[in-house]
Amino acid sequence: MGGEAVDVSGKACLCRVDFNVPIKDGVIVDDTRIRASLPTIRCLMEGGAKVVLISHLGRPKGKVVESLRMDPVAGRLSELLGVHVKKLDDCIGEEVEEAVRSMKPKDVLLLENVRFYPEEELNDREFAKKLAAPFDIFVNDAFGTAHRAHASTVGVAQFLPAYPGCLMKRELEALEKLLRSPEHPYVAVIGGAKVSDKLGVLENLLDKVDSLLIGGGMANTFLMAQGYDLGKSLCENDKKEDALRVMKKAQELDKQLLLPVDVVVAERPEPGVPVKVVRPDEIPEHMMVLDIGPETRREFSRVILQARTVFWNGPMGVFEVEQFSGGTLEIAAAIAQVEGFTVVGGGDSLAAVEMAGCADKISHLSTGGGASLEFLEGKELPGVKCLRGTR
Ligand code: 3PG
Repeated sequence: MGGEAVDVSGKACLCRVDFNVPIKDGVIVDDTRIRASLPTIRCLMEGGAKVVLISHLGRPKGKVVESLRMDPVAGRLSELLGVHVKKLDDCIGEEVEEAVRSMKPKDVLLLENVRFYPEEELNDREFAKKLAAPFDIFVNDAFGTAHRAHASTVGVAQFLPAYPGCLMKRELEALEKLLRSPEHPYVAVIGGAKVSDKLGVLENLLDKVDSLLIGGGMANTFLMAQGYDLGKSLCENDKKEDALRVMKKAQELDKQLLLPVDVVVAERPEPGVPVKVVRPDEIPEHMMVLDIGPETRREFSRVILQARTVFWNGPMGVFEVEQFSGGTLEIAAAIAQVEGFTVVGGGDSLAAVEMAGCADKISHLSTGGGASLEFLEGKELPGVKCLRGTR
């Protein structure tokens, strides 16, 4: 694990994974994160460890939520590994300790959603101690959750020797390259619904990139700050000053900051509704912005195609609805053509490159949305800091 040869033979290993996957009516819609953890799980199995996996799923807020149990994940994982993965209904206590004691090397066990306990997100020391109790070592492969200082990502490392898994290492290597030694021109494409989630990263990225392209719902907030009337569009009115600050910073640093010059609007984000393409000063008051328009796509693609490094997080519109997916898919296709280092992060952007059929043309697909953003913001991720051999 983590570049250091660690003898895991016969050891009970607690492996934190990020199996926070989208589930609809009990069926996993996208298993990317489960597949991404397979190398570490297989490596531990081959090394003769007793592999016990732990993850969160959704945000149950410290209570048992039936629809957020890990059972569908155990089913999918069993199929992918080709071995039966037993799933327990708890993640601490006598039942878990007994199950771990009776495991044989190479067995794989999945614990229940760790966020059913409020102590998890509080990084409660006693809870972390209980989580760690049945184990000899801790492996953290949950890059997607590395920005959370929780009991199962950070707390357990106080009680067990802690190592990064293969996915964690791969993610850190790719993002490190973006942060420390990007080739220029370096273009960041940032979309998604809310600017409030991404203010920090926008400001930090401006120091590093040559061009910042902003699309998706968050672009509305920037357009509003410039004085446009956005009709019924999603828009964070209280973030006007922040948007103005980001634009001012771009100007001061002489960086290119591009916003949509045309947008696709409709009355509702639903299939089949009539749509129009308008300029930002022509948005009808009963309509909402749901995608970037064709001229914006051309301009964004032109800038992307000149890049040697691209980072993309967040869709350009409501891409789940076909009529509003054009902008996001064109951006995905442009990034796939870049002959440099390209990184795409975040569940929606990953789904978009899959949808565009170009996932294999991207240099690195990051399983972490928030985690990759915080890393690029220059923050030290607590779930990484506590692991051996990562500094
Ligand atoms: C994610 O999906 O970004 C990670 O699994 C973290 O989930 P969280 O934002 O609920 O902590």
